[in-house]
Amino acid sequence: MDLEALKKEAALRAVALVRSGQRVGLGTGSTAKYAIEEIGRKLAAGELTGIVGVSTSEASEQLARKVGIPTEPLDPRPLDIAIDGADEIAPNLDLIKGLGGALVREKVTEVQAGRLIIIADHTKLVQKLGEKAPLPIEIVPFGFLSTIERLRGFLPSGRLRMSGAQNYVTDNGNYIFDAGLPADFDAHELERRIKGTLGVVDTGLFLGMAERAFVAAPDGVRELVR
Ligand code: A5P
Repeated sequence: MDLEALKKEAALRAVALVRSGQRVGLGTGSTAKYAIEEIGRKLAAGELTGIVGVSTSEASEQLARKVGIPTEPLDPRPLDIAIDGADEIAPNLDLIKGLGGALVREKVTEVQAGRLIIIADHTKLVQKLGEKAPLPIEIVPFGFLSTIERLRGFLPSGRLRMSGAQNYVTDNGNYIFDAGLPADFDAHELERRIKGTLGVVDTGLFLGMAERAFVAAPDGVRELVR
């Protein structure tokens, strides 16, 4: 089974948790895409009604509209559930997210979700965060070289994300510094330190947020619960 089929399987398991009338956070990325399409399919088939989607990126908003999910911008009301992918999933369901660039909108949205359900293929499982993926850190463009120098003081390996010859720009108009993580670190302490660095908007560390994850492997979908 190829990875795309696995991602879709995980997505379908998560969408099975969505109930009619719910406000649903719509994640970003190649796995979340399958969840958005499935919610659209269920709405069209009458298997779900009264869903309101809240998108975590411009790309997800466009897809939601295309597949017929009514959407609203985020407001202070809670979301019933959010479904999203991840770049790394630790055994305690702490996550690295943001390789797709949507980390800030994802975090701002998903922190309001009663349930955050993660969907992924098995290649995203790690023993320790940072094993495979860098940690995306969103930084403001003004003075970004100074911000990067401050970050390099304790995260020496890392680089500014590029899009061809240009600096990559997020939906919020910011840049991303992709940091390599040290072999040993306390995730909460690291999060505090990075967020305390002038010029940083937020990080792709999602700690203690995910309720469960559906992780698809060739021998089936594993359901991991925090
Ligand atoms: C978007 O910025 C990310 O947080 C994605 O959720 C994450 O990168 C997973 O994306 P894929 O499902 O495409 O691997």
